[in-house]
Amino acid sequence: MITPLLMFVWLSLTCYRAPGQVIPSGEPVSIHAERFYNISHQRDACGTLGYDVTGFTCCEDVLHKGAGLSCCGRKAFNITQASCCQGQLTGHLSQLVSDCCGYKAFDPLNYLCCESRILKRNAPDSKCCGKELYDSHQLCCGRQMNVLTKTSNVSVCCGNNQFDKSRQCCCNSTLVTARRQNEKCCVSITEPVPTPFSPGRTQRCTLGEETCGTNACYDPTTEQCCNGSFKGRYPSGQKCYEEIPAKCGSEQYNPEKDMCCAGSLSNRVRGKNLCCGAKPYSVADDSLCCNHSLVHERTDKRCSQDGHVYQPSRQLVCNSYVNRPGNHCCGTTTYDPQTEICCEGHKHCWSADVACCGRVTYNRSNGQKKCCAGTLYDLHTHGRHTNESQCCGSLLMEAGSTQTCCVASGLALVYPTQPGFACCGHHYPNASLWSCCAGVLKPRTEPYAAVGTGTNPDPRLLQLEHMKCKDLCHKKVYIGTVETVSARGERMSIVMKNTVSLTLDHLVSQAVALSDPLHLKLSDYCSSPKLIPGNTYIWMETCPFMKDICFITDLRNNSSPIYSILGFFSMCRSCILSSGQNTN
Ligand SMILES: *[C@@H]1O[C@H](CO)[C@@H](O)[C@H](O)[C@H]1NC(C)=O
Ligand SMILES: *[C@@H]1O[C@H](CO)[C@@H](O)[C@H](O)[C@H]1NC(C)=O
Ligand SMILES: *[C@@H]1O[C@H](CO)[C@@H](O)[C@H](O)[C@H]1NC(C)=O
Ligand SMILES: *[C@@H]1O[C@H](CO)[C@@H](O)[C@H](O)[C@H]1NC(C)=O
Ligand SMILES: *[C@@H]1O[C@H](CO)[C@@H](O)[C@H](O)[C@H]1NC(C)=O
Ligand SMILES: *[C@@H]1O[C@H](CO)[C@@H](O)[C@H](O)[C@H]1NC(C)=O
Ligand SMILES: *[C@@H]1O[C@H](CO)[C@@H](O)[C@H](O)[C@H]1NC(C)=O
Ligand SMILES: *[C@@H]1O[C@H](CO)[C@@H](O)[C@H](O)[C@H]1NC(C)=O
Ligand SMILES: *[C@@H]1O[C@H](CO)[C@@H](O)[C@H](O)[C@H]1NC(C)=O
Ligand SMILES: *[C@@H]1O[C@H](CO)[C@@H](O)[C@H](O)[C@H]1NC(C)=O
Repeated sequence: MITPLLMFVWLSLTCYRAPGQVIPSGEPVSIHAERFYNISHQRDACGTLGYDVTGFTCCEDVLHKGAGLSCCGRKAFNITQASCCQGQLTGHLSQLVSDCCGYKAFDPLNYLCCESRILKRNAPDSKCCGKELYDSHQLCCGRQMNVLTKTSNVSVCCGNNQFDKSRQCCCNSTLVTARRQNEKCCVSITEPVPTPFSPGRTQRCTLGEETCGTNACYDPTTEQCCNGSFKGRYPSGQKCYEEIPAKCGSEQYNPEKDMCCAGSLSNRVRGKNLCCGAKPYSVADDSLCCNHSLVHERTDKRCSQDGHVYQPSRQLVCNSYVNRPGNHCCGTTTYDPQTEICCEGHKHCWSADVACCGRVTYNRSNGQKKCCAGTLYDLHTHGRHTNESQCCGSLLMEAGSTQTCCVASGLALVYPTQPGFACCGHHYPNASLWSCCAGVLKPRTEPYAAVGTGTNPDPRLLQLEHMKCKDLCHKKVYIGTVETVSARGERMSIVMKNTVSLTLDHLVSQAVALSDPLHLKLSDYCSSPKLIPGNTYIWMETCPFMKDICFITDLRNNSSPIYSILGFFSMCRSCILSSGQNTN
């Protein structure tokens, strides 16, 4: 006997699981797929044989190659490629979108299941009328389920026939002709419209057919009736399948008869395989599920990320606030990018000179202000700040070399420049006391003579805006994302991905994608900066004061490499143009 010891959940499907039944895109998936996610199985035995759960799936003591597959009886299947209905597999249709119609799965978007028969939809609003289909230009009338073509716009059912509501009356399923203006039709009974979904069939079974339960007929040579319920066509050799009871909350239920949405049961309607809160619905319904409740007439309606229903042609939702459409969101309101600029959710007038600095704007052309990582500085009111002052993170440094900026990823600190001191990450130690290896400080045991003439040795991670045109713009520059870093003795090895080389020749910019991944080797591990996997860096093969590749921090936090590439070109182009003008 197999005892379920472990609920095995296929890892990549965890996000499909209840509650909510959603795939990463947020689209709901068929509730019937849920029962196939949790495959109970013995940890290491299939029948009496041991097996490897990382390579096989065990379904009712039958071993199948492939880990984490779903079981359909004794067969194994991949839930994204097939569906399981009462122990039978339907290929080429994922359980995530299908519903069962007897033993076969169907896609409720294009088919309907009418009394266990799969019928092609003629129109999106096709419905079942007993064993047949009917559309909006038709009626399904009476206990005999007659499909009638509407004779007029206002026709409705009266018993097994139709009538024109504007001219005729229907009393107790009988037609009463000649309706006078404003005359009430029937005294007590108002137009009885039979429910078209009732599966009741009163007609006698035809020759060769047998009764199934109390109200259905079936052909025993091609169809199946199991314990009084009609199952439709069956695959040869198929015996009546006993549905394993499932649980809805703590209650046991029969998934053939009922559907469980958010712990509450409702009658199962074939094709309605999605849950919206506690209500079942179908992808073919004219309904939208938003914030766990159904909204009817979905045409032109959308659900915003925070669960508001809105009409994109008339509304734009920005941070839960409803605005007029046509513009773009800026915080909770909208702005027109042709005339306005949005800075961290605050809008301002836009012109070509205007740029964002944090939430405010400034004129970047007149050189009176400088923006350092979102903080705006007025160069005139700061005595020691001139147009040559540089940023250190969000701080503006004094002009000249009185201050030193030490940068580690995410932290930039300003120190008064001291001879014989050198940056180590964001620290600024006396180089006679401390050595620095890849951003890590070590006390010196041997006496050390500071190199250079007391000026600050370059921080290993440079800041792009500290670079001079001549150092950067006429050289080959690379942009890439660090995948992994490893130290090999004195050396350092780096694997980069999405690497692009950039060159600017006579103002012609060229970006070339390099082999992916790219392997970089540095001869001196200690003099390299601390590189964070996942971060994008700019680097050069030859740098001032450095024997190795030198890394430069990216143009912006987490900006896309494309932006960095374009930013580099536009910076260098204006740099070269202005230096050209100066020499003229
Ligand atoms: C599947 O497993 C989850 C968590 O183990 C459980 O909450 C859920 O009820 C299970 N579903 C079924 C249909 O057994
Ligand atoms: C199921 O198929 C999908 C798509 O072909 C595949 O990505 C996935 O790994 C398969 N799952 C299993 C358990 O084989
Ligand atoms: C259907 O009825 C509406 C009024 O309810 C009318 O405007 C329209 O012309 C009718 N269409 C047909 C095909 O009779
Ligand atoms: C409606 O008609 C049925 C038979 O056609 C009859 O038995 C029943 O009494 C009628 N009901 C009323 C309210 O007239
Ligand atoms: C057959 O149906 C009856 C009544 O619906 C139920 O009590 C019984 O358990 C069913 N038997 C099987 C084998 O499904
Ligand atoms: C979403 O539903 C919850 C509870 O059902 C309700 O509290 C919340 O206000 C709803 N959100 C929106 C945006 O309607
Ligand atoms: C920005 O400054 C430049 C140069 O001083 C000036 O020509 C321009 O009009 C200013 N723009 C705005 C929007 O103030
Ligand atoms: C960079 O990221 C930090 C932390 O995420 C943030 O505080 C800072 O404002 C960002 N700087 C820029 C220029 O976006
Ligand atoms: C800085 O301002 C001075 C005069 O105020 C000017 O001569 C110099 O060109 C400016 N430098 C830059 C980089 O704008
Ligand atoms: C740096 O350390 C050395 C060795 O202890 C010392 O001689 C020197 O004065 C220190 N420099 C500063 C500026 O403190």
